[in-house]
Amino acid sequence: MIEVISGTNRPGSNTRKVAGHVEAVYKSLKVPVQLLDLAAMPPEIFSPSSYAEKPAAFAKMTDRILAADGLVVVTPEYNGGIPGILKYFIDMLPFPESFERRPVCFVGLAAGVWGALRPVEQLQAIFGYRNAFIYPERVFIPVVHNSLNEAGCLKNAEIEKRLESQAVEFTKFVESLRGKKLR
Ligand SMILES: Cc1cc2nc3c(=O)[nH]c(=O)nc-3n(C[C@H](O)[C@H](O)[C@H](O)COP(=O)(O)O)c2cc1C
Repeated sequence: MIEVISGTNRPGSNTRKVAGHVEAVYKSLKVPVQLLDLAAMPPEIFSPSSYAEKPAAFAKMTDRILAADGLVVVTPEYNGGIPGILKYFIDMLPFPESFERRPVCFVGLAAGVWGALRPVEQLQAIFGYRNAFIYPERVFIPVVHNSLNEAGCLKNAEIEKRLESQAVEFTKFVESLRGKKLR
């Protein structure tokens, strides 16, 4: 199973729209996939007591990460970095088993012209620290509003091609590292 993580909880987020597109790409390849939306983080997880003891309502998200064959993290750029909620989500997951030797790849999107290069590189540092298997081909979506139509669907053929190519190659990467076929 591939888990596509939509890396913000902002209502109406473009990240969620791009994550939905990525999910659809894996479905079209017949690769089992689910979308994990950080907007669904349970309110209890934001209590400071969660560092010591995780609320039961968070277990469903944890279990999905621990069961994933591969993770696709879709991140926007917020103030030159990853959203606080995405880092908090990472910090709330069990250490070290959440990411140790788990295949991961990255998609970044931003209002600005750098297409979330900075947050994606921050994620590479974090997942590198956590000994994840990082897939090297990243996809960046600059000036994201120009690449989405009014219905929130991607309308940029070049970006669509890159996302498809990343999904095809990341699937092979995951299959070789997990030693099994995903479809
Ligand atoms: C708190 C916040 C900070 C942001 N900071 C940046 C930034 O540093 N650089 C940038 O290009 N866009 C920035 N943006 C714009 C986002 O990249 C833009 O909203 C984009 O659609 C992706 O985020 P979304 O999923 O919230 O829609 C920021 C947006 C928010 C809400």
